[in-house]
Amino acid sequence: MARTVDDLPRMSAEPASAPGGLPEPRQNAVIDTASAESPVFPPPPAFAERARIKSLEEYRALYAKSMHEPEAFWAEQAKCLQWTKPFDRVLEWQAPHAQWFVGGQLNASQNCLDRHIADGHGGKVALIWEGEPFADGRPREERTFTYAELLAEVCRCANALRALGVKTGDRVGIYLPLVPEAAIAMLACARLGATHSVIFGGFSAEALRDRLADAGAKVLVTADGGWRRGAVVPLKQNADAALAGLPHLERVVVVRRTGEPVSMKPGRDIYWDEALKREAPVCEPVALDAEHALFILYTSGTTGKPKGVVHATAGYLLQAALTMRWVFDLRDDDVYWCTADVGWVTGHSYVVYGPLAERATVLLYEGAPNWPEADRIWDIVERRRVTTLYTAPTAIRSFIKAGDQHPGKHDLSSLRLLGSVGEPINPEAWLWYHRVIGEGRCPIVDTWWQTETGAIAVAPIPGATPTKPGSATLPLPGMAIEVVDHDGKPVPPGSGGMLVIGKPWPAMLRTIHGDPKRYVQNYFSQIRGKYFTGDGARIDGDGYLWVMGRIDDVINVAGHRLGTAEVESALVGHPAVAEAAVVGRPDDLKGTAIVAFVTLKTGTAPAGDLKEKLRAHVATAIGAFARPEEVRFADALPKTRSGKIMRRLLRDVAAGKGPQGDTTTLEDLSVLAALRQEEE
Ligand code: WTA
Repeated sequence: MARTVDDLPRMSAEPASAPGGLPEPRQNAVIDTASAESPVFPPPPAFAERARIKSLEEYRALYAKSMHEPEAFWAEQAKCLQWTKPFDRVLEWQAPHAQWFVGGQLNASQNCLDRHIADGHGGKVALIWEGEPFADGRPREERTFTYAELLAEVCRCANALRALGVKTGDRVGIYLPLVPEAAIAMLACARLGATHSVIFGGFSAEALRDRLADAGAKVLVTADGGWRRGAVVPLKQNADAALAGLPHLERVVVVRRTGEPVSMKPGRDIYWDEALKREAPVCEPVALDAEHALFILYTSGTTGKPKGVVHATAGYLLQAALTMRWVFDLRDDDVYWCTADVGWVTGHSYVVYGPLAERATVLLYEGAPNWPEADRIWDIVERRRVTTLYTAPTAIRSFIKAGDQHPGKHDLSSLRLLGSVGEPINPEAWLWYHRVIGEGRCPIVDTWWQTETGAIAVAPIPGATPTKPGSATLPLPGMAIEVVDHDGKPVPPGSGGMLVIGKPWPAMLRTIHGDPKRYVQNYFSQIRGKYFTGDGARIDGDGYLWVMGRIDDVINVAGHRLGTAEVESALVGHPAVAEAAVVGRPDDLKGTAIVAFVTLKTGTAPAGDLKEKLRAHVATAIGAFARPEEVRFADALPKTRSGKIMRRLLRDVAAGKGPQGDTTTLEDLSVLAALRQEEE
């Protein structure tokens, strides 16, 4: 259950005054009430002139139509996809279950590939990839695929998967580094109508096993390894450990990436190149129902078990494509770079499906943005003449920390648009991004959305919407964004509340795989008839959205979404631990850092390297990105009389607002808890 809005994690979404030395933002006639609280940046006129949506009036007309006549609006928009069979009805809404474009058939890979080739664009570059290893001022490996070449590989892969027994409706796991094969495997599954489930390469063997088991995957596509910060991530080794005890997983396809020796199990494992070389570069796309499950993507919720979010083919693809147009204002000559990994939803919607459906040239980079030197990211922008860069606030904050001299060494004049996603962006980071990377020239699109929304829900339209640093601005057409109190009533402008979505939208999740009750319980039980996002937010006098962060037990660590219950259940899985409570602490770099309060089993001494062991234990159970920043031992966890852990108190203690105590020994939180009990 959500806590009160007063209890929001104190994220840095409050507008701040511009630090000295920044270009004076111009006031905008449309938004005059905002000037007191935040600088406003109108769309640069040169950008607006060439943009697809050129004015706020144009945006407002589109938005009004989407709210007043949603079915007519979406029927019109759906023409941007290629349909094998037209749909009969736009929407069937039996709250909270939606079906969109009922009766229609299409294929997502055909929409991303074949139709562009049929339109004469087979020679256009679809993917440019570079690997992490770098020597003599250049990446050691680069690969480029035109749309025609990408289609040929996707067809070979689809044929190979079919030869391994994959059929329409089967599930295929994908556990790869950021290599072209990741996109190829996803599109090959889409071509056959096999539902893919991509598992981020940073997840551990245990986390991989849980997800493959839940999805009931029949085939896994993985690699011998991937490069990250100069080291090899042992993906195949993890996969081998994960697969012990997964009888439904019959075959494993292994991409040769690093050339590391790996064990290949006869009869189960086959190398990607060997599987594909025998196959023809032609494979008919299967016509699939609009509602066919395109993918399952696991994300964290408020319990220890991750949720398999299911997305349907047509609605998802439609909104991924439209938001590419609206928010990124994609142009034919763009070199578009979204730095997300394909293992997260951003990689699904804005590395693969959205950009390819819109015939973009997409840059993929395997490794860390600051490897081998802090300027790698800016070196790529300069060498590749990147026009659109879409990244996360945590990355932006780390670039600020590294220093302006790194971007300063490079020609960034190719950039025309900058994006931010995954966490609230603090105004200081926004202003730095605008001034130093965008050189004051590029609009910034701060995009709010979720795994569950499938596509960007709130963001500026760069040629139309004046921006305010720290605000994701206005809802996109079709998105009925509201901020309400616990009774579902809209709160007055400027007041905090729960962020909900009041109408169904095409790219909304359809269910939780294998757990339809959880779908209803998780998203539709808090506020009657509305989808609850889990976020707290406020809407200012101009209708601008300020997202304040999660108000459920989900935390956002460096843009990675994690359930505190997941980390807790990993900790109690350690033999020394009796009980654990995990909270977030504001962190300058990561947004939120994980602090774990742990009580040990009677007779276990809090000695030696146990804290380090517990941190490592979490990394093994989930992945290195979930490793707690800090482990603190407590003699008992503070609880209310009814036995609920007093998380708010722990958050205060973690943030240094409570007694610091000697954190190397057992903390006595009971005194504090007793004081707090009296307060309540
Ligand atoms: C947070 C990532 C503020 C939010 C696309 C949401 C944001 C969660 C923003 C979803 C933003 C995402 N401003 N907060 N621009 N974008 N969030 O599912 O808390 O990994 O609920 O999807 O990230 O995380 P997810």
